[in-house]
Amino acid sequence: MKALIIYFSRADENYGVGYIDKGNTEIVAEYVRDLTGADMFRVEPAVPYSAKYDICIKEAKQRIGNAPIKEELPDVSGYDTIYVMSPVYWGTYAPEMETALSGADLSGKKIRVISTHEGSGLGSMVKDVKRLCKGADVDMNGLAITGSRAKGSKAAVEAWL
Ligand SMILES: Cc1cc2nc3c(=O)[nH]c(=O)nc-3n(C[C@H](O)[C@H](O)[C@H](O)COP(=O)(O)O)c2cc1C
Repeated sequence: MKALIIYFSRADENYGVGYIDKGNTEIVAEYVRDLTGADMFRVEPAVPYSAKYDICIKEAKQRIGNAPIKEELPDVSGYDTIYVMSPVYWGTYAPEMETALSGADLSGKKIRVISTHEGSGLGSMVKDVKRLCKGADVDMNGLAITGSRAKGSKAAVEAWL
């Protein structure tokens, strides 16, 4: 069984945490990696978001439905399980995750979804992953971690895994 973590995460200024060097979702993604031995792939925007939270919020809204990414997903044929991990942006995953998943064929894969958020839980992330990843076996029981408590979440991640 080989697993791949596909994640989006943004450092800099964010809600409830001030300026941070490592994004909340990346912190949790590293726990998943440490606990499962999965490989990691980071989805990055073609143009980075502003470091300022207030501006980033507006940029993210404008990018919904049109969010170019720096690099397409790697070849996923050697993986059976895919962890899709993203902060909740405007109620679902970051717009760049939609771009990354739209361009990939994840049919036949087991997909598990983890969000970090500040109140929305998973939002519509699991439903949206299911809509995009046709033919994949999407676990409807996703995990939602409060972003500002990402550092203390390893036990919760382990229990869910
Ligand atoms: C553009 C933007 C939109 C956000 N929208 C939501 C939201 O709709 N619901 C929510 O609970 N949190 C929202 N947040 C908070 C993030 O989901 C939360 O801080 C997350 O942990 C950030 O993860 P990261 O540090 O890995 O990027 C938003 C943050 C940003 C920057």
